[in-house]
Amino acid sequence: MFDSKAFIENSLEEIRRTVGESRVISACSGGVDSTVATYLVHKAVGEKLVAVFIDDGLRREGEPEFVVRVLKSFGIKTRLIDAKAEFFAVFKGRTDAEEKRKAFREKFYSTLGKVAKEERIDYIVQGTIKADVIETVKGIKSQHNVLSQIGINPEIYGYKILEPLKDLFKPDVRKVGRQLGLPSEISERMPFPGPALSLRVLGEVTPERVAIVRKATQIVEEETGHLGTFQNFAVLHNDKATGIKDGHRLYGNIITVRIVDSEDAVAARATQVPNETLRKIVMRITREIPTVVRCLYDMTDKPPATIEFE
Ligand code: XMP
Repeated sequence: MFDSKAFIENSLEEIRRTVGESRVISACSGGVDSTVATYLVHKAVGEKLVAVFIDDGLRREGEPEFVVRVLKSFGIKTRLIDAKAEFFAVFKGRTDAEEKRKAFREKFYSTLGKVAKEERIDYIVQGTIKADVIETVKGIKSQHNVLSQIGINPEIYGYKILEPLKDLFKPDVRKVGRQLGLPSEISERMPFPGPALSLRVLGEVTPERVAIVRKATQIVEEETGHLGTFQNFAVLHNDKATGIKDGHRLYGNIITVRIVDSEDAVAARATQVPNETLRKIVMRITREIPTVVRCLYDMTDKPPATIEFE
C-alpha cells in the first residue's frame, strides 16, 4: 500500500538536499501531475521556486487564468509567459503526429530555457510520472516531458531537471495531492496531455483549428462532466465531409468525441454514454460551431487505440 505521508516526507528532504541554495522554476500546466510537483517543491524550498505557466495557445477555454489564479492562491510566485505566436509558428506546415510532438517539445524547452536564464535558476521541476516514462522508453510515443529517459541531455537547454513524481502512477499522485491538502478541483482533475489541444487537432495546428476543438471540448465537458469518467474530449479531423447548413451544401469539419474510463491510462475502455447525452453533444457541436457538419463517437478501447489520437 502506497504511503503518501511517508512519500511526501522523503521527497521534501530529497528536494531540499538536491536543490541546496539553487533557484528553481517549475513548468506548471495546471494538471494534477505538474501542480502536485510544483506544490511539493514550493513546500520544500519556498521562495526559491518560481512557477511558470506557458500560454502556448493550445489550452482549454479559460485555463491560463485558472491555473495562474490557483498557483497564486497557494502563495507561489507565478509567471505567465505568452508564447502563443511562437508555438503556432513551429506548427506551421507540420502534419505528422510525431513531428508535431517533437516541435512542441523543442519549443516548450527552449521557451523554458529562456525563462530559466532570466530567473537565473539551475533546476526545472517537472511533473513527469511513471506512465510517461514507460510509454516513452517503449517507443509508443515521445511524451513531451521525458528527456533524460530517452537520452536527451537537458543541460543542452541550460538547466537540470527535478522530477519528484517520476516513480508514481496517477492514482498515487492524486493521493499525494490530497495528503498535501490541495483542493479537489486539482487533485481530482482529469488528465490533460502536455502538448494540449495540438494532439487533438489532427493535421496542421493553426489558431483557427484550435479554436474549433476548444469550443467542441468545452461542449463535451459541459455535457459529460457529471459522468466522472477518466477523460472526455473532442478531436478535430484533418478530413472534411459533406453536410448541409442553412439549406446549403457545406464541405465542413468532422469532430470525434472520445470519452474513456481508465485507472492509470495504460489501458482504457470507451464509455457507454447514454444515447440522449450523445445526441445532445452532436446537436450542440454542429449548431454552435458553424464549420462542423459531422460529429462521431469513438468506441475503441485502448489497446488497440491509444486514448489520444496522436
Ligand atoms: P495515450 O494517448 O498514450 O495517453 O493513450 C495516455 C495518457 O497520457 C496522456 N498523454 C500525455 N500526457 N504528455 C502528457 O503530459 C504527452 O505527450 C501525452 N500524450 C498523451 C493522455 O491524455 C492520456 O491521459
